[in-house]
Amino acid sequence: MSKDSNLSKTSPPQPVLDSFKLSIAKRLSETLPLTIEQAFDGVDYGKKGEDFTVALPRFRLPGSISENASKVIEGFTSDEWIESIVADKSFLHFRVNTVNMISKVLNQVNTLSHASTEGQYEYGCNDSGKGKRVVVEYSSPNIVKAFHIGHLRSTIIGAFLANLFRACGWDVVSMNYLGDWGTQFGVVARGYAKFGSQEEFDKNPLMHLCDVYIKSSKEIKENPQVQAEAAKLFKLMEDGDDEMLSKWNTWREISMKKYQQVYNQLNIKFDIYTGESEVTQDSMGKALARLESLSLISDREGAKYIDLSEWSLMSPVLRKTDGTSMYLTRDIGAAFHRHEKYNFDKMIYVVSTEQVLHFKQLFKVLELMDTPWAKDLEHISYGMILGVSTRKGTAVFLDQIIKQAGDAMHAQMLKNEEKYAAVDNPEATSLEIAMTGIKIQDMAAKRANDYTFNWNRMLSFEGDTGPYLQYAHARLASIGRKNPHLLPLPPTSQISTHTLAQYPHAREIVFLLGTYPDVIKVAMKTQEPSGVVTYAFKLAHVISSAWDSVIVKGEEDLDKARAKLYLYSCAKEVLAASMRLLTIRPLDRI
Ligand code: ARG
Repeated sequence: MSKDSNLSKTSPPQPVLDSFKLSIAKRLSETLPLTIEQAFDGVDYGKKGEDFTVALPRFRLPGSISENASKVIEGFTSDEWIESIVADKSFLHFRVNTVNMISKVLNQVNTLSHASTEGQYEYGCNDSGKGKRVVVEYSSPNIVKAFHIGHLRSTIIGAFLANLFRACGWDVVSMNYLGDWGTQFGVVARGYAKFGSQEEFDKNPLMHLCDVYIKSSKEIKENPQVQAEAAKLFKLMEDGDDEMLSKWNTWREISMKKYQQVYNQLNIKFDIYTGESEVTQDSMGKALARLESLSLISDREGAKYIDLSEWSLMSPVLRKTDGTSMYLTRDIGAAFHRHEKYNFDKMIYVVSTEQVLHFKQLFKVLELMDTPWAKDLEHISYGMILGVSTRKGTAVFLDQIIKQAGDAMHAQMLKNEEKYAAVDNPEATSLEIAMTGIKIQDMAAKRANDYTFNWNRMLSFEGDTGPYLQYAHARLASIGRKNPHLLPLPPTSQISTHTLAQYPHAREIVFLLGTYPDVIKVAMKTQEPSGVVTYAFKLAHVISSAWDSVIVKGEEDLDKARAKLYLYSCAKEVLAASMRLLTIRPLDRI
């Protein structure tokens, strides 16, 4: 989408709970020496069943805490916003008007859930990034080294971040920067003559190329002469040798096709596929010339390197003795090219913590070149996945992991024959649930943490797992199917939402739905998926505890029955929205 079409979207309405917060802030500013803004900033979500809490000491007001608390409470009568105010040590707890809150939150959820994504923002979204463009680079596998599990985190977290920026009104350019250039291609080309097999390649190109790469690298370790030969082959590529380039091109095309299949399965998209091969000699040459003119480049046995010791960074080589480029050189050229092409306000690289040094060097080099936008680049890193092996304990390729997870899930579903028969496409469904398991396992913990890959836990329906979330969503979707006499629901204004006020569980669900816009804001601040995962589980739990008291089936009062169905359908919309933000496709039947 262009920046312009982003600008034409209507602004999202103020989140409903903000109006309640505002009313609390007003009460505070009328009774204490505070501006509304100061007071508003001091209104937090409460714990343990309190809607909002204000910690009075934070305002550093004259007078004692209890005097100030009394001033706020004295003469208070409940109104359409605030139901009650209670003082508790240095805190004031506010309970909002239940009937009004339920009606307003559900109305907003319902209206915006059906908003067309083009013209309006979906429920929970905000336009804090309106008019700004971000390039989000993620996944970026190396095509002869196979899609390794390590790239899985970049793929999932990166796609989540792209969604998150979009949800905050940014114009997002999502980008896959393939590792499709570099000495490793010389290594494969050198090894292919000896270890390559057309038959193996046709069977599984990624695995075969990777196999050749491993064997060839091993030879190199044993014999430096082979290394020189591989380097020569890469040099030929950089010099535009037709034969080398045509081999390279076949490998690249086929690898790309394979990757795209996996990305489709994973529900992950890119606006742009590019790669190290697309960085032009011209952009790298210009960058090097500029660095030379700033006297930042030195020679070491014919290789050109840049001295970064002053910044306690290792000094990287930018051009090898034979004139070929390096990974870092290509990143420098690529950054200039991207800035020119996309004129971004921000660019993030979602890459493992193993490359912290690389990105420090890249950002420092750009800064030394007096690039004003160097400050707009950010490396978003993440920890390692530990203990990965396939179920049989052999090689680890992402497509195999997905397939095995899908098969295991399918076997689990087969155990319940009746349910199994009710699912339209059990193979596809089990695969989808399995991928949800993989994604949730990945995003549940803070990104900086390492985590241990755990097949059993990831695929279980019990506990806070991906399958459980899909189950919670499918259960919500089933209520409409089981109560067709209530459908279609009348317009919101004709739904008796006040009848929901008598159910504490209904109140709890609706309040939680009301907090979703803040979940997105906090995720944006921390650039973490884990808060969204926590929210989705919290919502699923609260809904699950409502099933026994807020019952649709058998409710004879049709007004009440419709209100309950409306509640569950709004809950489903928000649960689905949080899952989609996490790149998951919510399922209606499992
Ligand atoms: N292809 C690289 C690797 O797998 C990751 C690329 C990260 N992005 C970048 N602009 N350097 O190690």
